[in-house]
Amino acid sequence: MTKRPEEIALMAESGRLLAAVFGELDKLNLIGMSTMAVNDLAERFIVDTLAARPASIGQYGYAYALNSSRNHVVCHGVPSPSELLQAGDIVNFDITLEKNGYIADSSKTYLVGEVSPLAKRLVQVTYEAMWKGIKAVRPGARLGDVGHAIERHARRNGYSVVREYCGHGIGREMHEPPQVLHWGKPQTGLVLREGMVFTIEPMLNEGRGWVDTEDDGWTVVTRDGKLSAQFEHTVAVTRTGVRVLTLRPEETTRH
Ligand code: CO
Ligand code: CO
Repeated sequence: MTKRPEEIALMAESGRLLAAVFGELDKLNLIGMSTMAVNDLAERFIVDTLAARPASIGQYGYAYALNSSRNHVVCHGVPSPSELLQAGDIVNFDITLEKNGYIADSSKTYLVGEVSPLAKRLVQVTYEAMWKGIKAVRPGARLGDVGHAIERHARRNGYSVVREYCGHGIGREMHEPPQVLHWGKPQTGLVLREGMVFTIEPMLNEGRGWVDTEDDGWTVVTRDGKLSAQFEHTVAVTRTGVRVLTLRPEETTRH
């Protein structure tokens, strides 16, 4: 769970490369693209340009470089050549990248073309909620503080937090201890220490928090069919606060 400085340096390199993958996706006009075409582009960029490995391929028997979760899909959506993105969709791409044995994990929800104000607001509040969680990370803080900050922001804006899926420690393995819940009570849970590395990846639902898994065994959807959005970063606890290892060039740590 706790990484040495030289390990964190390697994870930061994986995170920097993963940020570049999102930079590539940012350039796309997603309208009319299939989620599989986005997957293939990400995979080729990771393998050919970055000389890295899409860590999701082979993990739990999964075959693709990303998960694509559109509209009412909460997470773990599977890319498909027949799923064409349309103006008005929101779609999350969740990608893991391994370089030099260390994995980074990040996701971003994209607005496809012109999106309804309600959908845009959900995506914006989800992004803010992730940052509320990130801002709660520092040595001596507890995981309950992180979850509480996220849940409070979601609730204040009328949204639900999905409770079935959580953030996770990460390093040589994609999923390591601890589990990072996106809800909780302040001053409870694991005490954060310098060198811990984990993800923060809240899923916020427009309606109720309930979810179901579809028959493919992967795709998780909202039970009420309403929209869901997600953002994810991999973070490290530093001596004085937090470092976002997957920070994208357009992002700053001031939110
Ligand atoms: Co992820
Ligand atoms: Co993750």
